[in-house]
Amino acid sequence: MLKGKKILLGVTGGIAAYKSVYLLRELKKQGAEVKVVMTPMAKEFVGKLTFATLSGYPVEEEFFDRQTGQWFSHVELGLWADVFLIAPATANTIAKMAHGLADNLLLTTYLSARCPVIIAPAMDVDMYNHAATQQNLSVLKQRGNIVLEPNEGELASGLVGRGRMQEPEQIVEFLERFFAKSQSLKGLKALVTAGPTYELIDPVRFIGNFSSGKMGYAIAEELAMRGAKVFLISGPTHLSIAHPNIELIKVVSAREMHRKALDIFPSVKIAVLAAAVADYRPAEVASQKIKKSGDELVIRLVKNPDIARDLGKLKSTGQILVGFALETDNELQNAVEKLKSKNFDFIVLNSLKDEGAGFGTDTNKVKFIFSNGQIKDFPLKTKKYVAKDIIDQIQDLLERQ
Ligand code: PMT
Repeated sequence: MLKGKKILLGVTGGIAAYKSVYLLRELKKQGAEVKVVMTPMAKEFVGKLTFATLSGYPVEEEFFDRQTGQWFSHVELGLWADVFLIAPATANTIAKMAHGLADNLLLTTYLSARCPVIIAPAMDVDMYNHAATQQNLSVLKQRGNIVLEPNEGELASGLVGRGRMQEPEQIVEFLERFFAKSQSLKGLKALVTAGPTYELIDPVRFIGNFSSGKMGYAIAEELAMRGAKVFLISGPTHLSIAHPNIELIKVVSAREMHRKALDIFPSVKIAVLAAAVADYRPAEVASQKIKKSGDELVIRLVKNPDIARDLGKLKSTGQILVGFALETDNELQNAVEKLKSKNFDFIVLNSLKDEGAGFGTDTNKVKFIFSNGQIKDFPLKTKKYVAKDIIDQIQDLLERQ
């Protein structure tokens, strides 16, 4: 499972650093390519030479080589890795990661890494239970990092409690499951709509909404991470996308989005519609900027095509169509109505009544609603995590086909 996987192993200054040597050997045995980055304190516990010999790569720890003046690129390290595994992660490093500090190479690498980050904490029981550490870990989880909860047992201090880094075998097993899942959509195509649509009034004005595209982009990235080829049809946003599996198709209006979605939909297995599409557009678009005149200006609006409804009609057996409902009142009732009328497999309800949910935020709070009446309710999470939940649910439906 780990053959050819590029794992960047971050080692920080705790006694559990000795276990990282076994971890490295185990990863190599399973066929992974491993590079090691250490904090300056880590090498007080285990020498760089040990990790360099076992990994086959020089170990990075300083920003630059003091003798040659050679600069070590944390950006390159972060881009190289399929996964950044920090094991052991001390309370100190966890705190710095949560607060965005960058005073060693491991931390600058963390801040510039685009790959998933997995953290295996190891520390004394009281440090682990301390409110500050728990809060820092929860910040990191909210930002989408994966935390491998430490085991209970005897600690280096002689105390007994939670704080032992997971055993190398447990971590390797986790990585095997992680990578298996990460390629689980390989060979499948998916369509995602994201962002707002702009409906022109004249050359300088439009009717739009507050969608930032964050939710839809997170879904596209999660699908791509799991191996799917993704067509992301996006209204105007400030976001960029880096994953090579994602083809970004930029549109402005609902009618453009509609045309592209109809073209692509027959070729995909999965479609997730997270765009906030304008239901109406101005009946006429003025060719020149409308000049200020009387006290009132009336703009006649006409209905836009309903992309979701049209895809719902086209949907063939085996295709999965998932929509969103953004509501301000009568949430459940409205969402159920949309679920049925648009022929979704399930609908993701987000309500503007919930703090941290909906437009523009990095977080969302959602409910999945199914046609059999089943409802799954989720706590507030980052959009990255909400995207994971949505794709997990889709995979569950695919497995049951
Ligand atoms: O982009 P962010 O800032 O991250 O915000 C995310 C979000 C709030 C935009 C997103 O989570 C969300 O709720 N998207 C759908 C918003 C919406 O337009 O909901 P709706 O209830 O009006 O539409 C229901 C469903 O039909 C949606 O899947 C929508 O994409 C689709 N639809 C609606 C109208 C239309 N003409 N065509 C459509 O396809």
